[in-house]
Amino acid sequence: MKEIRKYGDEVLRKRAQEIKDINEEIVELSQEMVETMYEAPGIGLAAPQVGESIRLVTVDLSVGEDPRELIILINPEIKEKEGEDIDEEGCLSIPGVVERVKRPYRVLVKGIDLNGKEREIEAEGLLARVFCHEVDHLNGILFVDRLTPLKKRLILKKIKKSMNSW
Ligand code: NI
Repeated sequence: MKEIRKYGDEVLRKRAQEIKDINEEIVELSQEMVETMYEAPGIGLAAPQVGESIRLVTVDLSVGEDPRELIILINPEIKEKEGEDIDEEGCLSIPGVVERVKRPYRVLVKGIDLNGKEREIEAEGLLARVFCHEVDHLNGILFVDRLTPLKKRLILKKIKKSMNSW
């Protein structure tokens, strides 16, 4: 289990580094991320959220209920986007904040799995949303940055108030 870094931690604002070598450390970290994601519980986690500024994400819409749904992706990239979907979104790094965010309805994600094999995933709806959210994390972007300026200002006030209780 890793500690989840919260809003205000500068690691969440850095552009994460590409992974060049899938070594034992990366494999171990990905396992710890999966455990941390399940424990939280959450449906997605990006390495910067556990303090590692590298391009690695874990996603599981079933939160551990169905092993086939676990996706561990290295150097993920959103290659295609289509449509539009507005729905509620939250983030383990910003506890207690849920807001409606506009995302593409369908995306094509490319990345590498732990065996070094290239993977292409077509995702729709919630799964597409999670990938967009996690890839944003790798670029130092948080979901509150995707809100309108007015909404973002209001939410930042709320976040600053609740930060003391995290
Ligand atoms: Ni998040």
